[in-house]
Amino acid sequence: MLDAQIEKGRVVDIYRKIAPSYDLWARLTESRARDRCLELAAIQNGEDVLEVAVGTGLAFERILATNPSGRNEGIDLTEAMLIRAQRKAARSGTKNYRLRVGDAYDLDFPDDSFDVLINNYMFDLLPQQDFPTVLAEFRRVLRPGGRLAMVNMAKGERWYNGIWQRIYRISPALLGGCRSVSLLPQLEACGFRQTRREYMSQLTFPSEIVFGIVGDL
Ligand SMILES: C[S@@+](CC[C@H](N)C(=O)[O-])C[C@H]1O[C@@H](n2cnc3c(N)ncnc32)[C@H](O)[C@@H]1O
Repeated sequence: MLDAQIEKGRVVDIYRKIAPSYDLWARLTESRARDRCLELAAIQNGEDVLEVAVGTGLAFERILATNPSGRNEGIDLTEAMLIRAQRKAARSGTKNYRLRVGDAYDLDFPDDSFDVLINNYMFDLLPQQDFPTVLAEFRRVLRPGGRLAMVNMAKGERWYNGIWQRIYRISPALLGGCRSVSLLPQLEACGFRQTRREYMSQLTFPSEIVFGIVGDL
């Protein structure tokens, strides 16, 4: 597996530039995996939900539609992405949400705060060596029995899926720093149970959806 080529310090710069065109890309190549992630999370109205790396709010607006009476928190490193998420959230009809700048490595929430944590297309830009640290942070803020659902760029199952990894090798920034990752073994090592993985390809872009429930280590 290729390791991340974009340091954390450059992420905000890259996503500030990508923000205006992000939704078009995301709807064309990632929307089905994002939908499936929310299906697996099975959010019930009234739950405490955190989305880490909300981006422009494509999943967050759906979370608000499902959970108008619950608590909905969203964080992202990049303010330019959050501004777009804020616009979508403002149209949702609920005021039960908060969006703010935050870092997945150091979540500003007490232990056992959430029933559900959603995180899409973020691990694929983090260094592999940081996966256990960030997953442990996700686990910390989830309650026992809490559900984690995530989507990331995956290794393609067909020859034509490989084009994206080749683009990444030429210019990581063109893909927003995202490369293929595989999260399921990491989830299990971090104490998530009833784990599952699904693979999807949309317009040749390969994604994996992974799901797990907080169990005892
Ligand atoms: C490819 S976008 C995905 C956005 C959104 N989750 C989606 O699926 O549309 C990656 C996002 O991760 C955010 N990000 C990267 N590293 C982060 C970190 N350490 N903490 C919080 N957000 C981060 C970036 O700012 C960017 O908005």
